[in-house]
Amino acid sequence: MKLLVIGATGKIGSEIARQSAAYPDIDIIAGVRDLVKARTFLGDDYELRRLDFDDPSTFEYALDGVDMVFFVAVVAAEKVAVFLDAVAQSNVQRVTFSSGRTTGDVEGMSLFKIEQLIREGQTPYVIFRPGWFMQNFHTWIGATIKEEDAFYLPAGETKTAFIDVRDIATACLKSFLTKEYLGQTIGLTCGESITHTEVAAAISEAAGREVRYVALSSEEYTKTMMERGWTKNACDYTNMLYDYVRAGKEDHVDPALGEILGRRPYTIQDYARDYQAHWLK
Ligand SMILES: NC(=O)c1ccc[n+]([C@@H]2O[C@H](COP(=O)([O-])OP(=O)(O)OC[C@H]3O[C@@H](n4cnc5c(N)ncnc54)[C@H](OP(=O)(O)O)[C@@H]3O)[C@@H](O)[C@H]2O)c1
Repeated sequence: MKLLVIGATGKIGSEIARQSAAYPDIDIIAGVRDLVKARTFLGDDYELRRLDFDDPSTFEYALDGVDMVFFVAVVAAEKVAVFLDAVAQSNVQRVTFSSGRTTGDVEGMSLFKIEQLIREGQTPYVIFRPGWFMQNFHTWIGATIKEEDAFYLPAGETKTAFIDVRDIATACLKSFLTKEYLGQTIGLTCGESITHTEVAAAISEAAGREVRYVALSSEEYTKTMMERGWTKNACDYTNMLYDYVRAGKEDHVDPALGEILGRRPYTIQDYARDYQAHWLK
């Protein structure tokens, strides 16, 4: 089965590509914007095809002979609509979209609109709605951990049911092999909901030193991040997402992930231990 993975250089897509070696029936085609960059990033194991949501002329060849498509939302819904029309005219039998647990449900948000387009379209689909990624802690959130032994967020002390991106990729790969989840919108989280103080404790344990979570107000967060070079728009968007976190919208465990994986999902302790190199000085 030929699977076109769009966003194959991103967090979820690259994990799907990496793990696909264990799935001999799945033949990955990486749909990428920059073939040279993707070849360097992904190595020689995958067929690469140019696919840019901003350039509809790339759609026909990218979809040629493809059975299934995986994608994440990285452009406005209007551009995804053009892509989904091309999918409908191709021989693709399924689209799998990785949305977002909260924003997938917020009318007017891009993820909400894309989910609607998929449901209204002709192509069979599976929509996954993962919670907040654990992997954010060694990327943008955790940029200060090595230098300052702390990370800063406007997340309050409300709990969040995170998810390890490795588990999102495994759930996707397993779902491609069955028709069981077709037409479903499935929330994905790990097995517990925890505070950011508990995240800091897990990272501290793996790092072998104390790493603190510093709770900031939205205003303090904007000031801090703009001093670090973020734009006001990026701060506003992130604050909006953490408004949902503080309102408790992410404080809910979805049981589906363990059922799809056939094992317990990774915990924050697993994540912190497996990514230990990112915490060590
Ligand atoms: N972070 C979280 O905690 C979280 C939680 C739930 C849901 N989400 C959602 O997950 C999605 C992001 O997934 P991710 O983290 O796997 O992505 P990511 O790591 O941000 O990577 C984005 C990928 O999309 C590609 N891309 C960007 N613009 C493109 C275009 N015009 N045409 C084709 N490909 C393009 C990028 O390729 P290049 O290498 O060329 O840039 C990259 O491979 C977002 O919709 C986000 O809202 C995130």
